[in-house]
Amino acid sequence: MNRERFLRIILAGMALISPVKEAGSQPLSSGDPLTGFTTSDEYMTHIKGETSCIGGQCHAQFTVEENRFGHEPADNGDCRACHIAEEYPNKYGLEPDQSIACYRCHRNIERKVRSSRFVHGPIKSGDCTSCHDPHGSGREFLLRTSYGNMCSLCHNLPGFFDGEFTHQPVKDGNCGLCHDPHASDYESRLTDVGANLCIVCHEDMVEGMTGGYVHDPLVKSGCTDCHDPHSGNNVLRLKDSTGQICFRCHEEKRNEIDQYVLKHEPAVKGQCTSCHSPHFSKNQYLLVDRIDDLCYSCHKDNRVWRERRFQHGPVAQGNCLACHNPHGSDNAYILRMAFPHRFYAPYEKGIYSLCFLCHKEALATVEKTETVTNFRNGEVNLHRLHVNRKKGRTCRACHDVHASDQEDHLREKFPFGSVDIPLYYVKTETGGRCIPGCHKERGYDRFNMVENIK
Ligand code: HEC
Ligand code: HEC
Ligand code: HEC
Ligand code: HEC
Ligand code: HEC
Ligand code: HEC
Ligand code: HEC
Ligand code: HEC
Ligand code: HEC
Ligand code: HEC
Ligand code: HEC
Ligand code: HEC
Ligand code: HEC
Repeated sequence: MNRERFLRIILAGMALISPVKEAGSQPLSSGDPLTGFTTSDEYMTHIKGETSCIGGQCHAQFTVEENRFGHEPADNGDCRACHIAEEYPNKYGLEPDQSIACYRCHRNIERKVRSSRFVHGPIKSGDCTSCHDPHGSGREFLLRTSYGNMCSLCHNLPGFFDGEFTHQPVKDGNCGLCHDPHASDYESRLTDVGANLCIVCHEDMVEGMTGGYVHDPLVKSGCTDCHDPHSGNNVLRLKDSTGQICFRCHEEKRNEIDQYVLKHEPAVKGQCTSCHSPHFSKNQYLLVDRIDDLCYSCHKDNRVWRERRFQHGPVAQGNCLACHNPHGSDNAYILRMAFPHRFYAPYEKGIYSLCFLCHKEALATVEKTETVTNFRNGEVNLHRLHVNRKKGRTCRACHDVHASDQEDHLREKFPFGSVDIPLYYVKTETGGRCIPGCHKERGYDRFNMVENIK
């Protein structure tokens, strides 16, 4: 705040156009012309009862051409609307609280000031002419200085407006588009509250704010929880670095991610906005896209899954989240539940929890069945045979959990050591045949048990 300096500037400016120099021939009374007359008599003598003070050579400076915006009472020579004889010895015969004079004609401003909760400092002290030139000005609204300079003359707040990234209206000095220069009902005398303050200009956000899912802070407090309205050193004037801004409020998410053994890279790097909009979205959880498109936007190679003949149920539905936790997990491949990522795994309860979220666990446990699984030879459950043993084959030895060109989501090949072993599968009406790299062709039939050669 540099109000004193500002007033000195104004006063210095006034001295330059003082009546002594301009109105040379006019006999002046004894009062010091720079400070005004000391008594009302001196003033009355000076004006000689004239109603207009701008005739001839006198005070014509107040109506000169460069005052493109004249003030009506000054233009009309109604000088005594403000310079009042009874007010002497006050300087220039002005009421100490200038607003009283102004309000006589500008009732609307008075009403606004009196009825508002927040009134600007200079208005409170009746200092209307710190911003307005009462006689006329080259600028709209009779402003003394350019709109852009006016506020910063008193508000010279270091670091406030000179960050690396400055908001365009602030750069342009259009402070008044957000702050009422006189008074308002909103703190900091803002012209509106919350998001409304911003979306008058950021119109493209209106639509998003009125439909779908809107991020809580936009609804509750607007935009300034995250963006500095004036200036700042972070991109977009974010109140924190892009990688940290979300954690200001989502501390719980940071803790959650920290605790995971495996952290999804974009989440741990704070690239939250690669998946979430900070503002609003048509998708739940403010996701920027439908889930599988979102994942494929980075995992581009996996898009081939879409071209395979068969997609696994949840994959076909685009529901990658059925199995993966997008932020991180204690399981390999950020899986929500346990699933061994090996070719062999000794069977234990719980190690296939992921699959048994949706499929019957009995598939891996009952020895003989006519119902639990179709992968059986007669009544012999071949799932159990392969899976449920010390050197059990894991599901992924045979199945591709995302998509496959073979029926029953059987892989075309499986990685074994450093090689890929092909797997040919022929499905029949009551069973199937398989030529894997690990043994000779074997078949199974649910009704006429096949005798395979060992
Ligand atoms: C709307 C109120 C208002 C009206 C109308 C007005 N003045 Fe002023 N005048 C002021 C104020 C306030 C000041 C104090 C200095 C300032 O803020 O510019 C002032 C200062 C002055 C001064 C001394 C400083 C200077 O700028 O030279 C003179 C002389 C003056 N006015 C003459 C006039 C004359 C002549 C008229 C009529 C043509 C007039 N004023 C009309 C408000 C007014
Ligand atoms: C005698 C009546 C009168 C007094 C006293 C008066 N004004 Fe005015 N003012 C007017 C009129 C009339 C206009 C032109 C019509 C309008 O725009 O409202 C005007 C215009 C203005 C404008 C420009 C408005 C615009 O939209 O461009 C400002 C600013 C202003 N006055 C400020 C002041 C200030 C500050 C004071 C006190 C120092 C003051 N006025 C005192 C009558 C007055
Ligand atoms: C801090 C600077 C500042 C002060 C002090 C100030 N004004 Fe203003 N005033 C402005 C600006 C800037 C505008 C231009 C319009 C806007 O941005 O809202 C304006 C506009 C106006 C207008 C015309 C627009 C309208 O709303 O009718 C009038 C009249 C006016 N002011 C009167 C006053 C009076 C009377 C006072 C003292 C009680 C005063 N002003 C004090 C900055 C100021
Ligand atoms: C003549 C000096 C002066 C000018 C010019 C001025 N201000 Fe102020 N401003 C003040 C004073 C005095 C305060 C009160 C400081 C305080 O209470 O701490 C203030 C306070 C403020 C506040 C804080 C108000 C609040 O309610 O918390 C804002 C915002 C503000 N001014 C904005 C502006 C804007 C925008 C402009 C330009 C239109 C401007 N000021 C021009 C003197 C000025
Ligand atoms: C885009 C809208 C916008 C613009 C333009 C703007 N401000 Fe602000 N200003 C705000 C908001 C919103 C606040 C409330 C504090 C916050 O949320 O950071 C504020 C607060 C302030 C404060 C009070 C700070 C405090 O701690 O109370 C001052 C002083 C201020 N602004 C001055 C200005 C000045 C001077 C300009 C022009 C150079 C300006 N503002 C331009 C929106 C704006
Ligand atoms: C008076 C009009 C206006 C208002 C009000 C306004 N803005 Fe802006 N804003 C702009 C302009 C102009 C730009 C720069 C052009 C662009 O990128 O669209 C901008 C750009 C931005 C940007 C992009 C970064 C940059 O600086 O280029 C952000 C973020 C932003 N504004 C946030 C806000 C917030 C938050 C508010 C409310 C406190 C707000 N704006 C109010 C006009 C406005
Ligand atoms: C929760 C914090 C947060 C809130 C609240 C917020 N923003 Fe943002 N905003 C961001 C982040 C983070 C980005 C950067 C997005 C990215 O990295 O893709 C951004 C980007 C922007 C951009 C530039 C890029 C774009 O999307 O056009 C503008 C403009 C913007 N915000 C305006 C606003 C406005 C206006 C509001 C209030 C209606 C608002 N923001 C509320 C965090 C927020
Ligand atoms: C100013 C505080 C704040 C900031 C900063 C913030 N959020 Fe939020 N966010 C909330 C609040 C409050 C909620 C609603 C309550 C909750 O679900 O925790 C919320 C909810 C969410 C939701 C859940 C939405 C839903 O539909 O359930 C997501 C996702 C989210 N935020 C992501 C983000 C991201 C990404 C960022 C960083 C760009 C961010 N948030 C920054 C306060 C914030
Ligand atoms: C790879 C995409 C992705 C990234 C990166 C990501 N999220 Fe999420 N987030 C999601 C998805 C998808 C959901 C939907 C619910 C679920 O499965 O947890 C979600 C849900 C949320 C929720 C609401 C539900 C909950 O779990 O509390 C919040 C809050 C959230 N994320 C915050 C964040 C934050 C903060 C970051 C940055 C550290 C972040 N997210 C990074 C995809 C992501
Ligand atoms: C912003 C880019 C991005 C998005 C969006 C994204 N990921 Fe990732 N993801 C990565 C990066 C980077 C890695 C670590 C490097 C790698 O393995 O490719 C990774 C790793 C993974 C891994 C672990 C791979 C391994 O070898 O351990 C899985 C599984 C995964 N992501 C699944 C998903 C799913 C499911 C989604 C959608 C919800 C998703 N990702 C969205 C960037 C992304
Ligand atoms: C039924 C559970 C399940 C679903 C649904 C699922 N995944 Fe996976 N995903 C896994 C398993 C298990 C792995 C571990 C690798 C393996 O066993 O083939 C994995 C591995 C991955 C990997 C890392 C290895 C690789 O092949 O690149 C990515 C990336 C991945 N999944 C992305 C996705 C995406 C994207 C979706 C949604 C389109 C999705 N997943 C849906 C279970 C699933
Ligand atoms: C979120 C539920 C869900 C999870 C978890 C899940 N599946 Fe599935 N699975 C389905 C649905 C739904 C179908 C039926 C649609 C289809 O054929 O893909 C299915 C079908 C299958 C089929 C083919 C059935 C047929 O008749 O052709 C196999 C094989 C399979 N799943 C294996 C697995 C494996 C292995 C896992 C563990 C990694 C697993 N599933 C986890 C939902 C799930
Ligand atoms: C040795 C290879 C192999 C292994 C290991 C294997 N499957 Fe299968 N699975 C098959 C074959 C072949 C079928 C097709 C049966 C049919 O329809 O004729 C099948 C079918 C299925 C089906 C469809 C329903 C059914 O039972 O017929 C599901 C679900 C399934 N498997 C889940 C799993 C899960 C979960 C695991 C791991 C715990 C697993 N499979 C391990 C070969 C295997």
